[in-house]
Amino acid sequence: MNTTFLNACQGLPVDYTPIWIMRQAGRYLPEYHTVRRKGSFLDLCKTPENAAEVTIQPVDILGVDAAILFSDILVPLEKMGAPLEFREKQGPVFPTPIRDRAAVEALGIPDPEDDLGYVMDTIRILRRELADKVPLIGFSGAPFTLATYLIEGGSSKSFFHTKMMMYKAPELYRDLLTKITDCTIAYLQGQIAAGAQALQIFDSWVGVLAPCDFAEFALPYVRRIITALKATTSEVPIIYFANNGGTLIDQSLTSGADVLGCDWRVRLDEVVRQVAGQVSIQGNMEPLALFLPPDKLKTRIQMVLDEARGARGHIFNLGHGIVPETDPEQAKLAVHLVHTLSRRK
Ligand code: CP3
Repeated sequence: MNTTFLNACQGLPVDYTPIWIMRQAGRYLPEYHTVRRKGSFLDLCKTPENAAEVTIQPVDILGVDAAILFSDILVPLEKMGAPLEFREKQGPVFPTPIRDRAAVEALGIPDPEDDLGYVMDTIRILRRELADKVPLIGFSGAPFTLATYLIEGGSSKSFFHTKMMMYKAPELYRDLLTKITDCTIAYLQGQIAAGAQALQIFDSWVGVLAPCDFAEFALPYVRRIITALKATTSEVPIIYFANNGGTLIDQSLTSGADVLGCDWRVRLDEVVRQVAGQVSIQGNMEPLALFLPPDKLKTRIQMVLDEARGARGHIFNLGHGIVPETDPEQAKLAVHLVHTLSRRK
């Protein structure tokens, strides 16, 4: 198996910089659409053979150094008791937002095998099929990001209801976040037991918080997840991706993660200085840089590699998900360039 990604996570020597791409299984690939047309997005997440097939597509097509489980961060929330819909053009919707005590009390903690067995089955299929290829990354949302979907009832711009609960009903907020955290710990432990070889915790919206609110309302729950997982095993590296979290890096360092994911708004050389060898770093090319002409794309990739020099380990990635309009040939070229430009002589 290609262990370059796992080694970089742990700060061990590598022959070249490994790369995977957030949302690498998805709508920019015609092969994804072929499988996706068989049903809805949630049907795809819940059909292990098909979910496994689209997980492997970017490994074969692009040559990335890791596979990421095909699912969605919102899937476990549905099993906590919050009905979930994915609407065309609108994205995820929770028709009954969680905003009061009764709604929080009614949420349960799903059992990974009994309630989310399709995710665990997908992981088991993938481990069999990826055996000699690349490691498999499992994932979850971070409690704050998951809570925003439940409280807002879907995606949001202002996060008004979430912040109102934080400020006006802090005990309710804490109880909701505690339940989501308990659910996430069980869910990620289930993924490890099923065979996930690394985990990424996506905190997609945490960048909307003031640093003091991050310290109080988001980070403690992430830390509790990582502490619980590390008590189970030290073998599975954990990546914490705080999107738009450039001002939160000093605090994120105390999360216990092995790797900090960086969005494209930060300079990696500054992150390297801040983390001072305590963790590896992942990122952070601007996703739309994949639309640059090849010579400029090459320059941009070289810049990211140069900025990351001095990190104890670097995993190349985009600063956020690849967009559906991307030309797969450009993604393929980026993988090739990262591998060749970073190869140690
Ligand atoms: O990275 C991968 O290849 C693995 C699969 C994956 C998906 N979602 C598939 C998906 C992962 C890791 C996610 C995580 C996820 N889901 C996040 C965190 C990452 C991030 O982008 O910040 C978030 C916030 C979600 C919630 C979500 N899921 C939204 C807001 C949407 C709609 C917007 C959109 O991009 O369409 C989704 C749907 C979704 N998740 C799709 C895919 C491939 C598109 C569904 C389709 O095929 O129609």
